[in-house]
Amino acid sequence: MNHIYGKTIILGVTGGIAAYKAAALTSKLTQKGAKVHVIMTASAKEFITELTLQSLSKQRVYSDTFQERDPAEISHIDLADSADLVLIAPATANILAKMAVGIGDDMLSTTMLAVTAPVMVAPAMNVHMYQHPAVRTNMQTLASRGVHFIEPGEGLLACGYVGKGRMEEPETIVAVVNEFFAGRDMAAQGPLAGKRVMVTAGGTVERIDPVRYISNDSSGKMGFALARAARAMGAEVTLIAARTDVAPPQDPQIDLVRVESAADMYAAVSSRWSDCDLLIGAAAVADYRPRISAETKIKKSGDTLTLELVKTTDILDTLGKIKEKQFVIGFAAETGNAELYAKDKLVRKNLDLIVANDVGQEGAGFGTETNIVSIYSSEGLVLDLPLSSKDEVARRILQLAAERMAGAAV
Ligand code: PMT
Repeated sequence: MNHIYGKTIILGVTGGIAAYKAAALTSKLTQKGAKVHVIMTASAKEFITELTLQSLSKQRVYSDTFQERDPAEISHIDLADSADLVLIAPATANILAKMAVGIGDDMLSTTMLAVTAPVMVAPAMNVHMYQHPAVRTNMQTLASRGVHFIEPGEGLLACGYVGKGRMEEPETIVAVVNEFFAGRDMAAQGPLAGKRVMVTAGGTVERIDPVRYISNDSSGKMGFALARAARAMGAEVTLIAARTDVAPPQDPQIDLVRVESAADMYAAVSSRWSDCDLLIGAAAVADYRPRISAETKIKKSGDTLTLELVKTTDILDTLGKIKEKQFVIGFAAETGNAELYAKDKLVRKNLDLIVANDVGQEGAGFGTETNIVSIYSSEGLVLDLPLSSKDEVARRILQLAAERMAGAAV
């Protein structure tokens, strides 16, 4: 199905040999009914002409920040505001670096500073440039801000090398864009459409000194599955993730906030609390942290070392007690008596639901792809879920939350 029809896409074209593919890309997106506004860098114009892309998009092509043809508009702001999606293809190492550090010295990079729409980039460069630590760091920075990467393919590069760096083919990029809009269109009709959902994930890191810390085995899988499921049901999702073993969802629609300690997580969650409709605490948050985090590495000295630990702020406990419109779901990771302890946490933290996982059971809890959970409310057991994928567990939890939140709103 065509989900591109009627969408406004800014296509950024930067200066690499793959710029010639921007012609096919512009043509295919336009044929699918998108309004494509092309912004070219000066280097891109060395490879392909403005006239080509203007003819294919049937729209004016932008390349000069200061060439304002219409006195009623400020092009880079108006363009940025109009976009449903920004796609940069090909994206050179240069534009990635500018976006990572926030440089705005031409029409494209300046527009990128004003863009609030989701951003996709299709990098294209020489294989050694692609692997350069500076480029990798810039890509990681952008990915952590939610920029979606359409990974380059492997093959013969224009420079003669064989390797990764060749821009993905226009057909594939159009398919990725279509899938992105399909997800968004579906989400707009989902049961959590218009709701703001915050999910915590991963294990917090409590520093002993600059090279040592206390943490736990949370991989982030359960929290990430919840973020994906909430998004698929139409919610606006903020994912607050501490240390994780797996990569976070590569969905430009999920706002990813990386934190380290329980204190950081509390600050991140509480600063977004007033806007939140549903909070799900899947993170394994440290209950205690070292009283002192040494500024330099602690040297080996005596036969024993005593670390004094102090309590962290309990995020769900603090917020659960002051909740107004918010629906709050906690997790309880237990190694026995799961029901008893989970119900105690439900009441103590004033939660709406608690998801108990007996992490001693095979296939449940930390690090696994699956989970086995029992969900309780103040009335008792709501749902027992046998061994299921974390995606399925997440879906069922979100379904329950959506039903109960809708019930409360009636
Ligand atoms: O990440 P995975 O590898 O996929 O593993 C998933 C999981 C086992 C970590 C997850 O399913 C889970 O059970 N998370 C909660 C683990 C936990 O720390 O539970 P708890 O019983 O200590 O805490 C109860 C609740 O209070 C949790 O929702 C927790 O996020 C929250 N809490 C705890 C301490 C604290 N200082 N602040 C909190 O908000």
